[in-house]
Amino acid sequence: MNLEMKNIFKVFGPVTALKDVSFAVGPGEIHGLLGENGAGKTTLMNVLAGTFPQDKGEIIINGKTVSGMNPRRAGAMGIRFIHQELSLCNDLRVYQNMFLCGEFAYGPFISKKEEIKRAQEVLDYMDTGISATTLVGELETAKKQLVEIARALLFKSELIIMDEPTTALNTREIEHLFTIMNRLKGEGVSFIYISHKMPEVFEICGKYTVLRDGNFIETGEIKNIDEQRATELLIGKTFVAAKLKDTVQESGKTVFKVDGLSGKTFSDVSLELRKGEVVVITGLQGSGTDELATALFGATAVTGGTVSLTSGQLDLHSIKRVMQSGVAMIPRNRKERGILPHLSIRQNNSLAYFVVKHKKLFVSPKEEHERFLANRKKMDIRAGSDTDPITSLSGGNQQKVILSKWLEIDADVYIMDNPTQGIDVGSKFSIYALVNEMAREGKSVLLFSTEFPEIQQVADRCIVMYQGRINTILDRKDITEVKIMAHSTGAQG
Ligand SMILES: Nc1ncnc2c1ncn2[C@@H]1O[C@H](COP(=O)(O)OP(=O)(O)OP(=O)(O)O)[C@@H](O)[C@H]1O
Ligand SMILES: [Mg+2]
Repeated sequence: MNLEMKNIFKVFGPVTALKDVSFAVGPGEIHGLLGENGAGKTTLMNVLAGTFPQDKGEIIINGKTVSGMNPRRAGAMGIRFIHQELSLCNDLRVYQNMFLCGEFAYGPFISKKEEIKRAQEVLDYMDTGISATTLVGELETAKKQLVEIARALLFKSELIIMDEPTTALNTREIEHLFTIMNRLKGEGVSFIYISHKMPEVFEICGKYTVLRDGNFIETGEIKNIDEQRATELLIGKTFVAAKLKDTVQESGKTVFKVDGLSGKTFSDVSLELRKGEVVVITGLQGSGTDELATALFGATAVTGGTVSLTSGQLDLHSIKRVMQSGVAMIPRNRKERGILPHLSIRQNNSLAYFVVKHKKLFVSPKEEHERFLANRKKMDIRAGSDTDPITSLSGGNQQKVILSKWLEIDADVYIMDNPTQGIDVGSKFSIYALVNEMAREGKSVLLFSTEFPEIQQVADRCIVMYQGRINTILDRKDITEVKIMAHSTGAQG
């Protein structure tokens, strides 16, 4: 597809999300759309896919101006949109979700048997291991993300928009996705690829366009820039990465102890977290890390073992009691678990605080407002009024609200499950700085991560899981990407 978007404007109330943005994609091109949280990436794609109309500007497809774009027309033209937020119905089966809204592409006469067959073909082609007749609600987040992608591949596509498609995927799934993208690219399919993970952008994209604060900044060929330059373009100034943690803390006494903990996908996990220490747990998908993270906080059941603080054993049957004992959990996947979409930014922000700390009967709006202002400054949250619905924020800014709501409850032990998913490069570094700062102040952090640069930024020690068990524990001086990979895959090192 030959796509041109010319001089696009889009205003939401007081916010001008797009100011005179132009953008072009050619056939068989994988085009990275880059920008900080709130830069306007998703908004530009929503205009393209006809989710809502632009206020000004033109969309030109294969030389013809298209006015009055809507999702149905976009679909008929072969434009597929894989959304940043999951948009599947949990109550429907996988194949029903894949064909939802898509029936017109084949006409109404396709039988259920045929739908299942076609859906299964795509799922197998992508090597997902998912059955087309499974209920979507029974799938884990990563699998749901794969179904979203499969849905886009089900119909003949000319242009596929991927808005952070890989946040929940593991390395193998991402590589597989890239293989499929390259194959389709060879057939002339165009892609617009949005991601905050620079290594991915540099691996898969041929061209890039940068947006900043709703403005067009620059477009060009990926081979002419490097990650440092791209980051500078995004944030609009010379980028100085936060200094790597250099010294290992003199760690204090053990404050958090896991003894022989077992669950459905992990067994016999024992570890100790000391005061002022940051321990990272990593592992490939299927290594048990996902479930271990939720089990430590009482959100999934364990079959054996204990977790204790200096004050005694934690009651893992009640999340609220775990929190009140001084353990905070920052969950992964805002896509599904993080926000309460019908509440305002302010209410989402103060939720955890009022569950754990608040003693009074009523919540004071003034206090809520002040709590939000403090967090907005600390985390650089780009938001208008805090009484706006949380869903009016860009994806990454929603994630920052969630992070800050947990950071402020002043716990002794923080469990952070992939806290920087969907957060732009600049803000990621503020979060690393914050984690290191917390450790210096004597807090202890157990952080789950699959991104090596992140591990390197914060870890005093790194625990590598393999097939549900701890394979090794590396001291800071021994943490290298090669060693982590070797222990994650069972190859050792
Ligand atoms: N429905 C809406 N109502 C009000 N404001 C909105 C709405 N959608 C987007 N905005 C605002 O428009 C701006 C651009 O948001 P957009 O979602 O396009 O950012 P983004 O580049 O996709 O960021 P992220 O990387 O965090 O997903 C933000 O300031 C956001 O708050
Ligand atoms: Mg977005």
